[in-house]
Amino acid sequence: MSISIDTVSYSAGDTLIIDGITLSVTPGKVLGLLGPNGSGKSSLLRLICRLRRVDSGVIRLGEDDVAILSRASLARRVALVEQQSATDTPLTVRDVVQLGRTPHRGLLSAWDAGDDAAVDMALERVDMKHRAGQIWQTLSGGERQRVHIARALAQTPTELLLDEPTNHLDIQHQLEILSLVSKLGTTCIIAMHDLNLAAMFCDSLAVLQKGKVVALGTTWEVLNEDLIARVFGVRAYVEQSAVHGRYNIQYAID
Ligand SMILES: Nc1ncnc2c1ncn2[C@@H]1O[C@H](COP(=O)(O)OP(=O)(O)O)[C@@H](O)[C@H]1O
Ligand SMILES: [Mg+2]
Repeated sequence: MSISIDTVSYSAGDTLIIDGITLSVTPGKVLGLLGPNGSGKSSLLRLICRLRRVDSGVIRLGEDDVAILSRASLARRVALVEQQSATDTPLTVRDVVQLGRTPHRGLLSAWDAGDDAAVDMALERVDMKHRAGQIWQTLSGGERQRVHIARALAQTPTELLLDEPTNHLDIQHQLEILSLVSKLGTTCIIAMHDLNLAAMFCDSLAVLQKGKVVALGTTWEVLNEDLIARVFGVRAYVEQSAVHGRYNIQYAID
């Protein structure tokens, strides 16, 4: 399924946070959402899964306007992994991942082998199966993040939204998570900061600045020295080789 966002605006109080955004993600592809802190990335992800309501414009998952989908059908198809999420209840890793199955189960339906299989698969994919019995609160930041991603995968979404999923992760797990997500075949939007990792794993990129899309396209079209200077206020050298498909950004300090 695809995600399409058509002239969407959203304000909180008097502040315009999302300012007429239009973009779409091809089914099964990964869109990297870039932009400085406060540019609106998290707000946009929350609008897509209707944790917030748009003021104007339309967001569609496939053919369906998210504004009129039922809460239950929305929860069965779109999963969001937020930047920060915590719980005070002493849950095991497996308990947390099992929460991902909630939207798929009726009020009275029993837990079944299919649910177990989805949870096992999700734990395996983030390399946390051997920690299934550990209490979530005793995990490191990076391990917690991987468990949250497993919970989203257990939800078997058709659209997956990840808000800075590689924060707190060591480089090995950053690469593993992004590689995993890019191979899922699930339509995906990843808000992220590392431009080199975005270039490695995303099929297309959208750059936000003050709630607006200021660049949209392939890595080659979007990530040039001029844009990096304008949007991020940083001098960068971009090396690209079409022959080797290589892309490398180095930053300069004064
Ligand atoms: N409830 C709110 N009231 C006022 N301003 C908000 C609210 N929520 C977010 N903002 C502001 O909206 C802007 C975008 O925030 P956010 O979507 O979190 O950006 P990003 O994820 O790109 O860092 C920020 O300037 C933030 O302070
Ligand atoms: Mg954010």
